[in-house]
Amino acid sequence: MSAPLIDIDNVRKIYKTGDVEVKALAGVTVRIERGEFVAIMGSSGSGKSTLMNILGCLDKPTDGTYTLDGREVSKMDKNELSEVRNKTLGFVFQNFNLLARTTALENVELPLIYQGVKSKERAARAQAALDKVGIGKRADHTPNQLSGGQQQRVAIARALVGTPSVILADEPTGNLDSRTSIEVMALFQELGQSGITIVLVTHEPDIAEFASRVIVVRDGLIRSDKKQTPTPAIVPDAPPSSQSPEHSTAAGEEAEARAIGRIPRKKEGEASAGAEEKKDEEAKT
Ligand SMILES: Nc1ncnc2c1ncn2[C@@H]1O[C@H](COP(=O)(O)OP(=O)(O)OP(=O)(O)O)[C@@H](O)[C@H]1O
Ligand SMILES: [Mg+2]
Repeated sequence: MSAPLIDIDNVRKIYKTGDVEVKALAGVTVRIERGEFVAIMGSSGSGKSTLMNILGCLDKPTDGTYTLDGREVSKMDKNELSEVRNKTLGFVFQNFNLLARTTALENVELPLIYQGVKSKERAARAQAALDKVGIGKRADHTPNQLSGGQQQRVAIARALVGTPSVILADEPTGNLDSRTSIEVMALFQELGQSGITIVLVTHEPDIAEFASRVIVVRDGLIRSDKKQTPTPAIVPDAPPSSQSPEHSTAAGEEAEARAIGRIPRKKEGEASAGAEEKKDEEAKT
């Protein structure tokens, strides 16, 4: 069997602030295979973000080893580390971390700027990533012109644009309502099916159900680690259009909903729901 993509062996992390020592991780061993979708759970202060920071090569363990894709992270120099962060890993955060006053497209282009990709290719790849997460039509919107779920999808596009093998997401649904959370989880499941490894921190058991494995951390130690059959992330039907006139959505919004799996993709030749509604209205008048 090939080596696991992520191999964390007896990792400890001790923070020292003045005389006080905090044992954030007290000896964690975990192996994650390619294509796994792992949810990390645990109460506040249990060490989840510390573990994510180590996984993301943003922080180093005090003890123990971390081997990513066959390479020991502690042996990498600064350039190798930033290359791994740019090319192997993608990050998604609770508060989206998008630049305000900067369009969705430009936000997604950012990691490619750091990689020195030329502007034309950058724009094309950023647009493709936005298309992939179903918001290609909003490329020129700034974050304050987008809903929370749309902003998180821009952030996911930004994580994807460098074609990472691993996506690390710390509470990605923490600022989203439950419906939008399911949309985002549907997107993660789709990415997981395409072979991307996903490690996601969540406080919510409902969200952890969408993963294929749940690791519970307590006091800096893994308390349980279980594989499970993921619940398919299916967004509940929108209220019937008769009850919400504003729901006779523009074709763009409908395409968007299809792209994220909220409604099934159309068969060829099938009229869109919006068009049918319109026809009905015309027939009445
Ligand atoms: N930079 C730091 N310096 C000192 N102590 C830290 C630092 N970062 C985290 N800690 C401590 O390490 C422990 C684990 O913190 P961590 O942020 O990993 O928890 P968490 O599980 O992510 O919690 P939450 O659910 O609240 O985000 C906590 O006791 C925290 O106070
Ligand atoms: Mg945290």
